[in-house]
Amino acid sequence: MKATYLCRGNIPVLETPRLMLRKMEQEDAAPMFRFWSDPEVAKYMNVPPFASEDETREMINLLNALSETEDTIRWGIEIKENGSLIGSCGFNAWQLSGAYRGEIGYELGQEYWGKGYMREALQAMFEFGYETMGLNRIEALIYPQNSASIRLLAGLGFSNEGLLREYQQDGDGERFVDLYIFSLLKREFGTKGRVQG
Ligand SMILES: CC(C)(COP(=O)(O)OP(=O)(O)OC[C@H]1O[C@@H](n2cnc3c(N)ncnc32)[C@H](O)[C@@H]1OP(=O)(O)O)[C@@H](O)C(=O)NCCC(=O)NCCS
Repeated sequence: MKATYLCRGNIPVLETPRLMLRKMEQEDAAPMFRFWSDPEVAKYMNVPPFASEDETREMINLLNALSETEDTIRWGIEIKENGSLIGSCGFNAWQLSGAYRGEIGYELGQEYWGKGYMREALQAMFEFGYETMGLNRIEALIYPQNSASIRLLAGLGFSNEGLLREYQQDGDGERFVDLYIFSLLKREFGTKGRVQG
């Protein structure tokens, strides 16, 4: 197998029945600030809640720049029907040659939780990851207390491979936290879990 995927900052549009995943722009800073500054949303994201719209704008710039160097790829998630931005998702990091593995991250504004949106968004992102990027394994690091995330991943067929003890510091850098590592292999995609299509 050969490493092939070249993103070079071209974040493709991915569509699902209700959603469009697309590159985030400066104009998205206002809604993204509402989500990233909400302590309930940021709680398990390993970053402190954002303090200003400027900081949010800088993060959007940084994420887009990191897609040019192929270190990260992050999509804004938009509801097609009304154009509302409801959150984001992406590959925090990936490695092709020698591993073909990517690690994911995601969040939605609180008012959009529990409606199946993230499940829908991740299915499109996984298809892109396996088919276009050439990944073989997609993994997620999850706080054991994050029951919504655990349920989401279980529903998509992920396996919990165990607890990584004091794996990293929390968002404030004040303590070490244990994290579960979940994974879904290419050959399992669409064949495991409660969700098919
Ligand atoms: C995790 C998160 C993205 C889930 O997205 P979502 O769109 O609400 O999830 P879905 O509606 O697709 O639901 C997926 C499953 O999780 C369950 N679920 C959703 N919210 C839940 C909650 N608060 N508590 C328990 N289960 C929950 C749903 O019932 C569903 O289960 P089912 O498949 O058995 O029906 C959302 O809660 C969130 O943004 N949390 C804050 C950010 C975060 O923690 N990100 C992860 C860090 S890596």
